[in-house]
Amino acid sequence: MFKIIVAGCGGIVNAWFRNALARDDVEIVALVDPVEANAENHKLRHQLDGCPIFPTIGEALEKVDANLVFNTTPPANHEEVIVSSLRKGLDVFSEKPLADTIGAARNIVKASDESGRVCSVMQNRRYLNGIRTYRAEIERDAVGKPYHMSVDMLLGAYFTGFRNEMDHPLLVDMSIHTFDEARYLLGEAKAVSAYCQEHNPPHSRYRGAAGADCIFEMDNGMILTFKGSWASRSENTSSHGRWRLACAGGAATWDGYDGVVLNEAQPVPENIGYLEEEGLRREVALQKEGREGHDGCLDDMFSALAGRRPMQTDCHNNIHSLAMMLACVESAETGKKVKL
Ligand SMILES: NC(=O)c1ccc[n+]([C@@H]2O[C@H](COP(=O)([O-])OP(=O)(O)OC[C@H]3O[C@@H](n4cnc5c(N)ncnc54)[C@H](O)[C@@H]3O)[C@@H](O)[C@H]2O)c1
Repeated sequence: MFKIIVAGCGGIVNAWFRNALARDDVEIVALVDPVEANAENHKLRHQLDGCPIFPTIGEALEKVDANLVFNTTPPANHEEVIVSSLRKGLDVFSEKPLADTIGAARNIVKASDESGRVCSVMQNRRYLNGIRTYRAEIERDAVGKPYHMSVDMLLGAYFTGFRNEMDHPLLVDMSIHTFDEARYLLGEAKAVSAYCQEHNPPHSRYRGAAGADCIFEMDNGMILTFKGSWASRSENTSSHGRWRLACAGGAATWDGYDGVVLNEAQPVPENIGYLEEEGLRREVALQKEGREGHDGCLDDMFSALAGRRPMQTDCHNNIHSLAMMLACVESAETGKKVKL
C-alpha cells in the first residue's frame, strides 16, 4: 500500500489526486500546506475525511505513518521537502523542477544515495504520444543522422502567484520541460555548454524575463537551440513547442500537437546555386502506449516503485536536464557561455 503525504496543496496537485485516488493501493495519510485553507480546500474537494493537515513537512513526517511523499510545492521549497522526506526513509515523487539551484539538486541526489530511497520527477511531457513517436523516428535515423535540433515555444502565458516574483520565470518554471524533452529525444544526451540571452518585452506581465534564446552544445556533438516566450502576442506555438531536427537526409519535425513529419530532401541538381524546393513530406502515425501527461508519468512512477526499478525521470538522470536550465540562468546573468 502507498501511504502518501501530499506536500503543497495548490493548483497542479489536482492532477495528482485524480490519478492517485483512482487506485486501490493508495491512501492519502496527510496534507501539508502553510496556508491551511489551501489544504482544507483539497480535503473537501477530494473527500479526504479524517485526513490530518500539517503546516510543515517536518511535523507530518513526525506524526504519520507514511512511505511516500508527493511534493507539489513551489520550486524554492523542493530541497527542504524532498531531503527531509528521503532522510526519514520515504520515497518522493516531485513536481518539476527538481530544485532551484544545482547545490540543492546535488543535496537531493546525495540524500537519495545515502538513504537508499527514490526521488523521481514529474516530467509529464515525456509521456505524450507525439513525443514518443518523434523519439522513435529519431532513434532509427529515419531521415539520416541528426546534427541540429531547434525548438520554439512561443506562448501568451498569464500566470499569477510565485511565477510573477521569480527573476527568471520562463527559464526556471517552464524551460526544464523542453530541455528534458530534448534530452529524451536525443537518447539522454547531456549538455556540455550553454549560452542564453533573456528579454522582457514592455507588455510582459512578469517582473523577471518572460523570453529567452538559448544555444547548447550536447555531448553527442549536436547543437540545440531554444527560443521561448511567455509574452508572445501572436504566431504562437503549441505549449509543447514546435520542433525541427535537421538531419543528413532531410528534417524531422513535430508541431507539439499530433503532427510528426519526416521530410526527405531530394537530390540537388548539378550547377544550381540555391534550392528552395521542399522535400518529400510524410506524416507518421502516432504511437499510443499508455496514458499521456501527468497520468502517464504517475502510472510509470507507481509501477517503477512497485518493481523497485529506476524510472527515466529519477533524480540521477533529471539533474542533467536541470543543469541545462541553471546554466542558462547563469549565462543570462553573466553574459557568458557556461561550461557544464
Ligand atoms: N508538470 C507540470 O506541467 C506543472 C504544471 C504546473 C505546476 N508545476 C509545478 O508544480 C509545483 C507547484 O505549482 P502550482 O502551480 O501547483 O503552485 P501553487 O502556487 O498553485 O501551489 C503551491 C502550494 O504549495 C504551498 N506551499 C508553499 N510552501 C510550502 C511548503 N514548504 N510546504 C508545503 N506546501 C507549501 C502553497 O501554499 C500552495 O498552496 C511547482 O514546482 C511548479 O513548477 C508543474
